Amino acid sequence: MIPMVDLKSQYAEIKEEIDRGIREVIDNTAFINGPAVKAFASELSHYLGGAHVIPCANGTDALQIAMMALNLQPGDEVITANFTYVATAEVIALLQLKPVLVDVHPEYFTLDLEAVEAAITSRTRAVVPVHLFGQCADMGPLMKLAERHGLAVIEDTAQAIGADYLDAEGQARKAGSLGTIGCTSFFPSKNLGCYGDGGALFTHNAELAHTLQMVCNHGQRIQYYHDEVGVNSRLDSIQAAILRAKLPHLDRYNRSRNEAAMYYNRAFSGVDWLTCPSTAPWSTHVFHQYTLQLASGISREQLRDHLSHWGIPLMIYYPVPLNEQKAYKQAGEYPVTRRLCDTVFSLPMHSELTTDIQNRIIEGVCSFKP
Ligand SMILES: Cc1ncc(COP(=O)(O)O)c(C=O)c1O
Repeated sequence: MIPMVDLKSQYAEIKEEIDRGIREVIDNTAFINGPAVKAFASELSHYLGGAHVIPCANGTDALQIAMMALNLQPGDEVITANFTYVATAEVIALLQLKPVLVDVHPEYFTLDLEAVEAAITSRTRAVVPVHLFGQCADMGPLMKLAERHGLAVIEDTAQAIGADYLDAEGQARKAGSLGTIGCTSFFPSKNLGCYGDGGALFTHNAELAHTLQMVCNHGQRIQYYHDEVGVNSRLDSIQAAILRAKLPHLDRYNRSRNEAAMYYNRAFSGVDWLTCPSTAPWSTHVFHQYTLQLASGISREQLRDHLSHWGIPLMIYYPVPLNEQKAYKQAGEYPVTRRLCDTVFSLPMHSELTTDIQNRIIEGVCSFKP
């Protein structure tokens, strides 16, 4: 079976850098909050154009910590996409806030801004745009909308680290560094992944950065003095050392993903039962996932069976809209999300994908007779 991601080949290529980083942590035994964590936060801050970086234990924690730091109160409404990974809505519900799910853009799968505007009420306090599959939501107009209504914006950039948002003047800014707070995950298969769990928060606001740091650390600014209820959420030093070794390669990894996506796009552009992913004019795309849409009436299950005979995996991100999940039931009309959940499928995508493997995948897909 061809793998969806190939972390072994990626490790083989930078083995010495990774092994050296891990060895250093073991030698200095600073396993928690050691120099590797501080160095990684500072290097990532530089990469993000100077945003403060607060490392934490995973991407789900990052979202929760962001909402805790903003002091949102039970019953406050938080608007987010109906078509996303569950973590985005999960933490909203966990904090007894009200997730308000809205539909997404039919081509780019990020928040539909008209739907966001229509969902704003007097209880709305925050919006969580998800930079799904590797490209940014339209942050410029979203920030203006949020400002008009006094809302915080928490970017979920777990799938889009390294993507650039292009503002109206054509200036590029890194995903995660545009909102009130940015949140990311370093889950191993992410574009910048560690070898376990990891996450981080970003903000340009120094005061907020202090609060985020405090929430991550049991609500204490001074040791053993707890001003607020916090959590214990840390990036461990070994994971930070791995991320330090990988960060200098992130742009190259993202370029490789982009080239692989363009190669797939060229091969599938003439297939009339497929719609290739497209890139929004306001963002670059780092293709965390390469996600196609099947024409309606064509069976994804038959395509999956066909591909499995070729040793090709087909993954569905995501098969059920959040508002139809038992835990998050919500009435509403979500025509785009509904269609996407029925028609999308993702093919192998990673920075080590070779032309030979892609040709096998393309041949397998194109030999399907719907
Ligand atoms: C969009 C999105 N948000 C949040 C998360 C949560 O990250 P983690 O698994 O590190 O908790 C993920 C991880 O898959 C994700 O894809």
